[in-house]
Amino acid sequence: MKHYLQFNDLNASEYAYLFERATFIKNKFKAYEKYHSLSDRTLALIFEKASTRTRVSFEAGMYQLGGSVVHLTTGDSQLGRAEPIEDSAKVISRMVDLVMIRTFGQDKIEKFAEHSRVPVINGLTNEFHPCQIMADIFTFIEHRGDITGKTVAWVGDGNNMSNSWLQAAELLGFTVHVSTPRGYEVDQAVAGVNSSCYKVFKDPMQACAGADLVTTDVWTSMGYEAENEARRKAFADWCVDTDMMRAAKPDALFMHCLPAHRGEEVEADVIDGPQSVVWDEAENRMHVQKALMEYLLLGRLAFS
Ligand code: CP
Ligand code: NVA
Repeated sequence: MKHYLQFNDLNASEYAYLFERATFIKNKFKAYEKYHSLSDRTLALIFEKASTRTRVSFEAGMYQLGGSVVHLTTGDSQLGRAEPIEDSAKVISRMVDLVMIRTFGQDKIEKFAEHSRVPVINGLTNEFHPCQIMADIFTFIEHRGDITGKTVAWVGDGNNMSNSWLQAAELLGFTVHVSTPRGYEVDQAVAGVNSSCYKVFKDPMQACAGADLVTTDVWTSMGYEAENEARRKAFADWCVDTDMMRAAKPDALFMHCLPAHRGEEVEADVIDGPQSVVWDEAENRMHVQKALMEYLLLGRLAFS
């Protein structure tokens, strides 16, 4: 049994299969072709933080594959009333085939997985957001082809998204140019990568120079709201603007996992401009996650 708790829980060959499978599944969806590879399977979705994309993409995706979904939040389940995570894992995993969790510490999802009888998927923790990076790379491949050898500029917080980008760079052979304000650097130990897959730049403009993809995220992630004011000051110069996009390659793409704050981490002219692929990126969450759920439950399938 495989869990998907971090980007590097799968290898490069598994990602190559998943990207091909996501295209196969997406084409069926676009052609209104019924495709029920997970009929009678049930997915539990557990949210301890807010979500729009993750909930809709997993829920709609599972229904489209012929399965069904149970949705739980901290507020409306015993998770919010201190039932031990081990007990929750033992109970929930006896009744469903697959579990997705969005929570705070990575330790919590690891503990859940340790006591689960079924595969567990990370739908975002403080440390990682692997499903989003899978969608981002799939989107890059759709628009520009292979990401191997390319340069991704990360402008902003050293957070769950940047940690997952670093893991992807190490695994798939590209480089991340990281620029964060002082005090918000990426933590190599948390990402668990060696230093050859990324380079650090003080100036966000330099990080963007020659990049194939420029990407950013909110200044304040969920769970860090108490730091909001300090972050607004510290991050003021880490706003992706048209000058940064001009410093990147002429055909560079712009990505943002969303939700976005125009005028903070990105200018409206960039996110709503011609190089932005944020809507494809959001839609592709559903297609790659359908491929992922199918893979965790059924393994590699024939393309017919
Ligand atoms: N990008 C992303 O995970 O969005 P939600 O928080 O809306 O799920
Ligand atoms: N880094 C952001 C991503 C939201 C999808 C957060 O954790 O809130």
